[in-house]
Amino acid sequence: MSLTWPVYWLDEIDSTNEEAKRRAKADGFSAQWIGAHKQVSGRGRLGRVWVSPKGNLYTTALFQWTHELRDMTRIPFAAALAVAETVEGLAPGSCPLLKWPNDVRCAGAKVSGILVEAGETNGARWMAVGIGINVGFAPEGLDQAATSLADLRGDAVITPQMTLDALRAAFALRLAEAETGFADIRKAWLKRAEGLGQPVRVKVGGTVEEGIFADMAADGALLLHLRDGTQKTIRAGDVELVREVSPE
Ligand code: BTN
Repeated sequence: MSLTWPVYWLDEIDSTNEEAKRRAKADGFSAQWIGAHKQVSGRGRLGRVWVSPKGNLYTTALFQWTHELRDMTRIPFAAALAVAETVEGLAPGSCPLLKWPNDVRCAGAKVSGILVEAGETNGARWMAVGIGINVGFAPEGLDQAATSLADLRGDAVITPQMTLDALRAAFALRLAEAETGFADIRKAWLKRAEGLGQPVRVKVGGTVEEGIFADMAADGALLLHLRDGTQKTIRAGDVELVREVSPE
């Protein structure tokens, strides 16, 4: 039960995911949360940088995955739901939505990003679920709009520690669900899906695909309906919503 995992707070670290990987590679690690007040080499998805000064939450849940290898794909969605539920609990009315696979956004502004990594040490599979939540402020100068819990709440009372406490509780429930199946997570994820049934642009490596975000497959893949009537299954990429320009 992930709620009972110990929490290790670090003042400064390169990246909580890197620290988790170092710990996972050491023999006999046990499940834990690593939190940092500041990261100096915070990493985002698809090789991006995650700007990580003091004031926001940088954390990684490190645990062993004893279930089927193929079921690991449930975890990014379980984590995204847990974050959305945390954000909603701490900022009531903020209506967090999920941009495939696991960006958490409120009114189009990103409040959290998730980077899931996995590996194997001496035959034991582990997962490092790295979560960044903008708590005290929204970083500036990004290529997309951002918001924070402080902005969403309209006060500066909330701290990274309080946020991690709420996240641990939400994550414990969603992880337990992910260990037994994907149907409930998929259903809950789709309820919060941003852009479902709408035109999206998906960057996959060097190419860009445009189509309608038709559904999420039973394994979490994004199903894109292309203009030529075919369907594309996307397992990794960057989704951008194509806002339709309304005629004058
Ligand atoms: C993204 O949206 O691109 C994912 C961002 C993930 C950031 C978190 S912060 C804690 C953990 N440590 C990292 O270096 N990255 C993740």
